[in-house]
Amino acid sequence: MYDMHGETVHYDTETNRLMLIDQTLLPNKTEILALYQKEDMHRAIKILQVRGAPAIGVAAAIGLSVLANESKETEKEKFLAEFEANAAYLKTARPTAVNLFWAIDEMCKTLNAYRAQSVEEIKTALTEKALAMHKEDAEVCHKIGEYGAALLEDGDAVLTHCNAGRLATVKYGTALAPVYVAKEEGKNVSVYADETRPLLQGARLTAYELTEAGIQTTVLCDNMASYLMAHKKLKAVFVGCDRVAANGDTANKIGTSGVAILAKHYGVPFYVCAPFSTIDRNTPTGKEIPIEQRDGEELRSMWYRDAMIPETAETLNPAFDVTPHELITGFITEKGILQPPFAE
Ligand code: MRU
Repeated sequence: MYDMHGETVHYDTETNRLMLIDQTLLPNKTEILALYQKEDMHRAIKILQVRGAPAIGVAAAIGLSVLANESKETEKEKFLAEFEANAAYLKTARPTAVNLFWAIDEMCKTLNAYRAQSVEEIKTALTEKALAMHKEDAEVCHKIGEYGAALLEDGDAVLTHCNAGRLATVKYGTALAPVYVAKEEGKNVSVYADETRPLLQGARLTAYELTEAGIQTTVLCDNMASYLMAHKKLKAVFVGCDRVAANGDTANKIGTSGVAILAKHYGVPFYVCAPFSTIDRNTPTGKEIPIEQRDGEELRSMWYRDAMIPETAETLNPAFDVTPHELITGFITEKGILQPPFAE
């Protein structure tokens, strides 16, 4: 099997391929995708073969570089137009995670900075930029881990929702990075993982990557979080996020806002782990964050031999919800822990 160097998203510059672990097959099968066509990249993001805000962003950046290197256009204007069309196309893959738009815009800025150069020079600059973003993602996540781990002591337990671990980034993750760093520091921290209906990122991905890393993990159904908080001692809730609005309202996997409400009720600190690339100062509040609506078949039949919802019943399947900033104890970022008031 292809060596991903411990990463979820990798740039194979020898073959000019975007390399991804296909997350739709985990935990039972590990398959690596080698992509070089825009339709396959778009599909990989849309159907969650690659998912998690930072991983989607890095995948898009590498994808644009791969497409630029594959381009047969030698005429500069045509090459530039093709790149811009690819960038616009990949932006349509998913609407909520701002990292996708941020990463594509970063690649477009590089294109613009090198516009006057030759096509070959532009290609080299794009490759270097994608590699730099890939490297930076791992560094930023480790920093988040260091700040988050300082909140944890040996024997603590935390609750997480969805997967904001290494599978959602290049490596380390955001919400799980503090747990990994705590382990590096010799502290044993156990994790409760919400199953995360309907796509089971908690059960399939969080439990998979944590148990592989030797971290004690307990999976619960989403509707058991209140029971958990009432009966077990939790140090904190750690979640990732897809977009933070300027006032601190935060979009993350559907169900996160419910966990935050419960955490407030039970007095459990609720932390959002976020790289600065997930903070969107152009979106004033959570109300303006676009929320992806997905196919109802994910509820109705995806995990069952026979459909589990009568055909005539309708479905509601928003992929994210917004946690109001008042419920957030702090943002653990690569630059430190941000405390309220967040608008500042
Ligand atoms: O639909 P998904 O699986 O892409 O949703 C992922 C999440 O909601 C994560 O918590 C978020 O992207 C942060 S990942 C570090």
